[in-house]
Amino acid sequence: MEQTLARGTLADALRTSPNVRQAIDAIIEEVRRSSAQITDIRPPREDLRESYDAFMERVAQIRGRGLYYPYIGSGLGNGALVELADGSVKWDMIGGIGVNFFGHSDPELIEEALIASLDDVVKHGNLQSNADAYRFADKLIECASRSSRLRHCFLTTGGALANENALKICYQKHKPASRVIVFKDCFMGRTVTMAQLGDQPAYRDGIPLTVGVDYMPFFDEVAAQRMGHTRFIDMALMHLEQYIQRYPKQHAAFVFELIQGEGGFNTSTRDYFKALMECCKAHDIAVWDDEIQTFGRTTDMFAYEHLDLGEYIDVLTVGKMTQACACLFSEEYNPAPGLLSGTFTGETVSFRVGRRILERLDTPGRYGDDGLHAQHFRAFEEQVRALASRHPDWFPKVPEIRGGTNVDDIVGGCGGMMRFTPFAGDKTRVVNACRALYDEGVITFYCGHGPYHIRMLPPLGVMSLDDWPRVFEVVERGLQKVGA
Ligand SMILES: Cc1ncc(COP(=O)(O)O)c(C=O)c1O
Repeated sequence: MEQTLARGTLADALRTSPNVRQAIDAIIEEVRRSSAQITDIRPPREDLRESYDAFMERVAQIRGRGLYYPYIGSGLGNGALVELADGSVKWDMIGGIGVNFFGHSDPELIEEALIASLDDVVKHGNLQSNADAYRFADKLIECASRSSRLRHCFLTTGGALANENALKICYQKHKPASRVIVFKDCFMGRTVTMAQLGDQPAYRDGIPLTVGVDYMPFFDEVAAQRMGHTRFIDMALMHLEQYIQRYPKQHAAFVFELIQGEGGFNTSTRDYFKALMECCKAHDIAVWDDEIQTFGRTTDMFAYEHLDLGEYIDVLTVGKMTQACACLFSEEYNPAPGLLSGTFTGETVSFRVGRRILERLDTPGRYGDDGLHAQHFRAFEEQVRALASRHPDWFPKVPEIRGGTNVDDIVGGCGGMMRFTPFAGDKTRVVNACRALYDEGVITFYCGHGPYHIRMLPPLGVMSLDDWPRVFEVVERGLQKVGA
């Protein structure tokens, strides 16, 4: 996008002033020095324990309940290592559930944040905006449009809001269709509508059901192996066609989460999605790809590229590691004026840091079968398999669960979406394992709805392959406590 915009303005003079440059360089140098002192995990400091516990108690009062993990960051880290406000240091293998792909205290991102702090305002809006919002969106479109028909972008502050906009776009294009097709185990956010689409009863407990939702089976590798891949696809197509016949012309969209996040890092074959997407096209149903968790971290920038499905996508949502969230859409799906707006689009800091992240993702060597993300996945897998061979009793075969999305391997995911499944995927033991790992010094989270898995969304943007044995040393110590 036009980089000469505003050249010669007073703001440009401020941003490029030698004094500002010098000040920023000095700050970055100081950040590097402080950050470099963090070199390994360590336990909490005794002298900080009391104030930390008191703060945690206050946080619980403020929120009405305690935090899931007793985590308050200090504001400093070094790559995948993060310092907490009690002075402890942990491996951060979940990155704010996928937000911090470039880890902690990354000098380049801090530099962007410092430049952003010079702006006259913090928030950009739809009525009045500075250039960074559009520069961020422009880079997103540049990347997305290479292998899809996506041409436009509308920004929001959160993933669920990006999804709300996607849904409105699909409704308007296919009016008066009002039903939505989603996959079993999907997660789409926590607004009133997204909680209804998501396949998790607890997340919509007490919420009146006002949206017509039809649930499709996600690809189940165990069932597909048993009955044959082609038959599995035929069965799914039959399922979809039944919905379409039951509610003719009433479906506005089918939401594809190509690798399920909360649902268990479930993957699928291209053929499965292709068959369903072609059926949508034949029946004039929008193909909406929710990449809020997958974006940037698989072995391609977009999961639709990884599966070569770009030609089918009408609407796409991204968030998390992008810092600002967005709904992208094709020419045909450009909605009428008035449908999308809102006071905020986001903050200068999110847009500048987000754009820098997109630029860093969009560099050679990161993606592809031998790219950095694939190499990290292999290093992770090697560690899990070595752990399982040392402790086979922690990794019994995952039993088939009727109604579950079943797996036939203790390792799964793709690129920077990594899961492993100890204790046969039993919920209580997996959740206890996550807590034990946290206490030991590695932050993970669980995913799945049965079987349950330990999930990692590690900061591959800054991790070294040599970090994996160090991370798994801690994982082994943590699991020892639950395994026993
Ligand atoms: C696939 C998917 N869609 C939507 C969302 C909702 O995003 P947010 O939490 O930013 O509202 C998430 C969040 O985890 C997600 O994983």
